Amino acid sequence: MMLETKTNMERHDHRQNIGTALLEMSKRVAMLLYIAFMGSLASVSAMGQANAASIVFDKQAQVFRIDAADMSYVLGINEKKQVQTLYWGKRLNATDTFSAAHSDPGLSAFDASINTTQQEFVAWGGGLYVEPDLKVTFPDGNRDLVLEYVSHSIEGNRLTLRLKDISREVYVDLQYEADGTTGILRRSAQVLNKTNAPFTIEQIASGTWNLPRGTDYRLRYLTGRWAGEWSLHEQMVQPGKTILESRRGSTGDQNNPWFAIDRNGANDQDSGDVWFGALGWSGSWQMSIEQDQLQQVRVTAGPNSFDFGYRLAPGEHLDSPDFYAGYSHDGIGGASRLLHRFEIGSILPHAPTPKLRPVLYNSWEATTFSVDEAGQEVLAEEAASIGVERFVIDDGWFGQRATDHAGLGDWYVNPTKFPHGLKPLIDKIHSLGMDFGLWVEPEMVNPDSDLYRKHPDWVLNFTGRPRTEGRNQLMLNLARPDVRAYVFQFLDKLLNENDIAFLKWDYNRNWSEPGWPAIAQEDQKKVYIDYTRNLYSILAELREKHPHVEIESCSGGGSRVDLGIMRFTDEVWPSDNTDAFDRLLMQDGFTYAYAPGVMTAWVTDSPTWVNQRVLTLEFRFLSSMQGALGIGANLNNWKPEDFATAKKMVAQYKQIRETVQRGSLYRLISPQKGSEQSVTESVSQDQQKAVVFAFLHSSEMLYPFPRVFLRGLKPDAMYKVETLDGKLSAGTPAVASGTFWMQHGIDVDMRGDFQDAALTLEATAP
Ligand code: DGJ
Repeated sequence: MMLETKTNMERHDHRQNIGTALLEMSKRVAMLLYIAFMGSLASVSAMGQANAASIVFDKQAQVFRIDAADMSYVLGINEKKQVQTLYWGKRLNATDTFSAAHSDPGLSAFDASINTTQQEFVAWGGGLYVEPDLKVTFPDGNRDLVLEYVSHSIEGNRLTLRLKDISREVYVDLQYEADGTTGILRRSAQVLNKTNAPFTIEQIASGTWNLPRGTDYRLRYLTGRWAGEWSLHEQMVQPGKTILESRRGSTGDQNNPWFAIDRNGANDQDSGDVWFGALGWSGSWQMSIEQDQLQQVRVTAGPNSFDFGYRLAPGEHLDSPDFYAGYSHDGIGGASRLLHRFEIGSILPHAPTPKLRPVLYNSWEATTFSVDEAGQEVLAEEAASIGVERFVIDDGWFGQRATDHAGLGDWYVNPTKFPHGLKPLIDKIHSLGMDFGLWVEPEMVNPDSDLYRKHPDWVLNFTGRPRTEGRNQLMLNLARPDVRAYVFQFLDKLLNENDIAFLKWDYNRNWSEPGWPAIAQEDQKKVYIDYTRNLYSILAELREKHPHVEIESCSGGGSRVDLGIMRFTDEVWPSDNTDAFDRLLMQDGFTYAYAPGVMTAWVTDSPTWVNQRVLTLEFRFLSSMQGALGIGANLNNWKPEDFATAKKMVAQYKQIRETVQRGSLYRLISPQKGSEQSVTESVSQDQQKAVVFAFLHSSEMLYPFPRVFLRGLKPDAMYKVETLDGKLSAGTPAVASGTFWMQHGIDVDMRGDFQDAALTLEATAP
């Protein structure tokens, strides 16, 4: 019943480190050792291993302290054996100590102590009104659950706390894992049934993050819709509750499972306190941001409790998803840089060194379903001529797929479009120096398909009720073992029979009628967990069996992007909206939570199908070069000068891609709030290189483009500036110090509508 995959567990196991283990000692001895340890840490850092996390238990005070990077997290067991948050924020001094936790006395008869004590994980029972982390119903009708601390263990950078109900054999293991590089904590909860009867879990969260009491908090979150994903929203945290959620069976783009909270007024892009987090779950989810009657703020997240029910048999356990959260002292910009670093270092396949994204071509916008061997061959030759490294066949290559009305589920190569199978085309693509990628949508079926005709019972449905279609398709119930086996087997066969380097894994609708009539009525709601768990396990098994294959998570655009799926996918498709100007705003929103290196961005045709906007090829390229560059234009319509421009810009991208994909992102001028300009800067990890992208919507009243102040450079290093596109103002020095570029800034000469510029900086000496 584990949601964790073996691979991920193994990865966690690797993250053992030196800085733990002052286990079960007296307070004085522990403190002395701790101070000595901090001293030794400094010398360890000097040896280049600065990424240690430490977990220290003060037995006398019953206080746990986690230090990692610039963050400290402290929790204590109070006199009621509740696990109480004591501190979460900037790293404290080694000499700072905490006395024992004490529960809050409560506000009145109306708000007992259980509601006002800041607890790490609280079950529904004992008079709780705030958002619970766990709610169960026992077979005898009892629904009261009150958890108390029983024991703990510390292994490396992982702390596990065991809680138990006051009378029943229900256990909850809370897990904390600290990332020494970023200070991000991974939290999850495992519920164990050691009673002799099943009970039903009606709500499970990964845990609650408590913030210091305050009234000046501002919440940022992401919203969207198809072709309009990644809108950044801000609102003050008010008394009451804000719920971000998806009830759609998958992540959704209406809300994304990410939050950031800062102190309003005291923050700008790169300074001030920010608490942020993201839930790693690709099924229905919820996140509650709640300010209680004592102005305490708590963030709780897990699978959505709406229509939820998971019957846990004796001896079984259910794991929550992982909920990751961190703290930044360097504003929201610092928070996103930490998240990006964490994703690159700990989440993505091949972390801590995920493979750089190749430049790909995909003809979806050019040909839609009209793919065939001859047409794709011509496009492949054209793509290769500009330096494309990966050629992808999108929708339309399989079954009887001429439109979106038929074929999903029938994963054989269409014999009319590819009479000799895919091999001749793949060979041709290889001979052109590219690798080959293929589109699949494994979780779906068209009613007009052989698969549906054979297995109408395989789709999500309620017996005797209509089956709502989206894009003429139904959802396969991946929770079913036979469906899981079918999906794995057809993908495995495809990968065995063809030399495929990349799968674009699409998912083009949300759930409806989520019934699973084949199993016992009381287990049918397990579909919400088992579906997503099977999705992850298919991805993990495919990756294990075909380790060279890379995967993109696509969901009609950016509807399934989260830290859960990103453990198995190398990149994500952020939106079907490929208008390069719209993308600036969406890409900005995207990077608040996710790394630019996973963000696929295609150069498509102008005018765009989305807004009929006309943009130069250079503008379209530079917008896409802020992420993982792809090309989706109809190359058959390009003129020789377009090929020349594209060839030049693809070559430029290859020079800067490591900085863009792995570097630190600074938002110099945000495109948010109707800004006319947008400027980003990526700085390589060694601070030797930087690349700046600048865009102008429209000039007004002779105003020059604002001066751009760079960030993140080494103040004393000398950097040479060069333009990739656009012009610098007359008098700009060719070489200047990092201090100069950051303090004096740089003037870009830009006037007109939809203008662009890009420049690189490179240190003249290492
Ligand atoms: C939705 C994706 O987002 C598009 O890029 C394309 O792959 C279509 N599906 C194909 O049906």
